[in-house]
Amino acid sequence: MDERVLEAMLPYFTEYFGNPSSIGHVYGWEAEAAVKQARQILADAINATPEEIVFTSGATEANNLAIKGVAEAYFSKGRHLITVQTEHRAVLDPYRYLETLGFEVTFLPVQPDGLIDLTQLEKAIRPETILVSVMVANNEIGVLQPVAEIGEICHRQQVLFHTDAAQAIGKIPLDVQAMNIDLMSLTAHKVYGPKGIGALYVRRRNPRVRLAPQIQGGGQERGLRSGTLYTPQIVGFAKAVALGLEAQESESQQLLQLRERLWSALSQLPNIHLNGHPTQRLSGNLNISVEDVDSSALLLGLQPIVAVSSGSACSSTNVAPSHVLLALGHPESLAYASIRFGIGRFNTVAEIDQVAQQAIATIESLRQSQTVGSQKALLSNRPITNDQ
Ligand SMILES: Cc1ncc(COP(=O)(O)O)c(C=O)c1O
Repeated sequence: MDERVLEAMLPYFTEYFGNPSSIGHVYGWEAEAAVKQARQILADAINATPEEIVFTSGATEANNLAIKGVAEAYFSKGRHLITVQTEHRAVLDPYRYLETLGFEVTFLPVQPDGLIDLTQLEKAIRPETILVSVMVANNEIGVLQPVAEIGEICHRQQVLFHTDAAQAIGKIPLDVQAMNIDLMSLTAHKVYGPKGIGALYVRRRNPRVRLAPQIQGGGQERGLRSGTLYTPQIVGFAKAVALGLEAQESESQQLLQLRERLWSALSQLPNIHLNGHPTQRLSGNLNISVEDVDSSALLLGLQPIVAVSSGSACSSTNVAPSHVLLALGHPESLAYASIRFGIGRFNTVAEIDQVAQQAIATIESLRQSQTVGSQKALLSNRPITNDQ
């Protein structure tokens, strides 16, 4: 977390500890004022109005509210839904759940560069389609979907458009009006904010989106998400997004330079591939496949100096190849041989050089000394954890 975010949050744990829904006393008013200001900052960040922001515990909950909330509110209009095979599990799993309830879901494929084919999307929309979910930025390969074009198609066909912008908020410009977005999931912790706080943008005009609440109780957030608001987290979320917007352009350039530096060093090795579109991607994301190297062995080689991820869904005993890389058309062997570098605000050129050096040395020594089979055998008893 950015220290400036922590600083903004701290007074709301102790000094201003009231419940923002307690409007009968000064403690409540102070907290309410802070929440109001945060809501305005977040609304401004995406060109929405404050009433259109519903605070949640993060993007997972926002996705669940958007997808299940629309399905429940519009099922009499239609029971067909559309999403994409490379979405985060916080989108895919609610859709799979809806299938068990009798909804029909189209999981669109992607092209080898990770982008969806807009003609295919247009063809998939039917009169009974009620919702389309396509993420802004992919969490594994950083690819940026053409959300403005997708929103235009959805609105022309009068289908609601939901997008998961967890990886995008504060990093690239987002405008719910210009992009025709009806529902947008946000989270704080990908933009140097605290974990456990996010929001769902819910359009109130042209069209007004109806949602069935998924968490009921005290009626907070206009009845769409009950539960006492977590003031310090909300303040931190807004501060993180404000800082992200302030530095968006310069930071994006800085991250791009670092990523290019890392990739130009690594790509000197033979049989190494960049995953996802080369330019239409988040500046801080580098996802590569290294032929003849098991990514778990490579992770282990890098562990002393850097926290990277294989970009695959793991349990402690079983490493499954990434569903995103498989959707790009990679064979399983290449999907297993992949690694994701996330470069951030606080990384330096010296760190990038150190990582490049260590990665090259590890890859060369793994390729020299072992076959992939024996690399795997070596690792079979080691638990590996991963962040999706
Ligand atoms: C694209 C995407 N969607 C959803 C999530 C889940 O967000 P949260 O951890 O805030 O629930 C994440 C991150 O973990 C993500 O990268």
